[in-house]
Amino acid sequence: MIRPILRMGDPRLLLRSEEVADPRDPAIRELVSDMFETMRAVDGAGLAAPQIGVPLRVVIFGYRDQGQTNPRYPDMEVPPETILINPELTPLGEDLDEGWEGCLSVPGMRGMVPRHRRLRYCGLDLDGNRIEREVSDFHARVVQHECDHLDGVLYPMRIRDFRYFGYTEVLFPDLPANADD
Ligand code: NI
Repeated sequence: MIRPILRMGDPRLLLRSEEVADPRDPAIRELVSDMFETMRAVDGAGLAAPQIGVPLRVVIFGYRDQGQTNPRYPDMEVPPETILINPELTPLGEDLDEGWEGCLSVPGMRGMVPRHRRLRYCGLDLDGNRIEREVSDFHARVVQHECDHLDGVLYPMRIRDFRYFGYTEVLFPDLPANADD
């Protein structure tokens, strides 16, 4: 079921989400199914459960077909389709990269956000199996963005230079007109 996406200003986006007690709970499977349906309906690169009003530590991102690129980020290779429950991030090294981000909860805008360039992340899938990866660049950026949602952090809260924050259609006039994330 496609669920409404909360937008910035909604206090539910500012909460710290709770750990999932049992990733194999059928209610979690249904939540994740709704999250994928909701994310795909708007061509998002990722979605966190609190964005649909569920305060649990669950994020999804990426695409099943690795040949596919996200029309919102045409130059980027997207990460593999991933479900992460109770994720933990560990930055690797001190390098920070600035890069453009959008968010389905901040429609129509982009901002330049610093993120760790490399990190290790782990979490559980729907069968309770542990996932652990070392990633960099766009993949690392997407994970950091989505996991921030679990701590009530939206990307504009991380922008350092507000000259690099604006409307997508003004900043990137060549992107598809519906590029609101
Ligand atoms: Ni977001």
